[in-house]
Amino acid sequence: MYHYCHPEEVERIISKLARHELTAKSLQIIKSHHEETYKHSLRVAKLSIDLALENNLSEKTVRMIGCAALLHDFGKTKIDARILSKKSSLTRLETLVVMKHPHMGAQELKNFLPKKARRIIENHHHPTDRLTQIVSAADMYDALTFPRTYKDGLPIEKVLEIMSGQFAGKARLIDQLKKRLVQHPRSQYRLN
Ligand SMILES: [Fe+2]
Ligand SMILES: [Fe+2]
Repeated sequence: MYHYCHPEEVERIISKLARHELTAKSLQIIKSHHEETYKHSLRVAKLSIDLALENNLSEKTVRMIGCAALLHDFGKTKIDARILSKKSSLTRLETLVVMKHPHMGAQELKNFLPKKARRIIENHHHPTDRLTQIVSAADMYDALTFPRTYKDGLPIEKVLEIMSGQFAGKARLIDQLKKRLVQHPRSQYRLN
């Protein structure tokens, strides 16, 4: 189980973002390319918005973070969906292709996204600034906790251990994530 600290605010901002024509169109492209990436993007966006609200960022910044989070994996629409769904480990070449998705996404969306949002997309796997760290932490958290068809979500302690290693020195961020995680009896998690 998972809970948001600001559920109504999160929903309000998400629906506002989804009404923006180009955002909605880009999301639709993700959805038709790879449904799982689409669902992941929505969960990451909701969690990022929730964290951004908790950090008292301005409405404008929260919306920018939400938009970047919704589209953070847009570059994956340029990757063969069979690679994205592959259950066995990727070949070296496939790994190299997948690693390019942050850059490809930022490039694809450069005509309509503000620079700050593109920076988040470009760096979401190697975050340096604080705003990117929010989306990056939400992304990693979702990847570790959400059960896939081919693997279970990891137990909470393990998730927090990995996250603490990746986000060393960001104790507040880890605490905020911990607060949002409630263990399911079968140690699986569900995000809305
Ligand atoms: Fe990604
Ligand atoms: Fe992602």
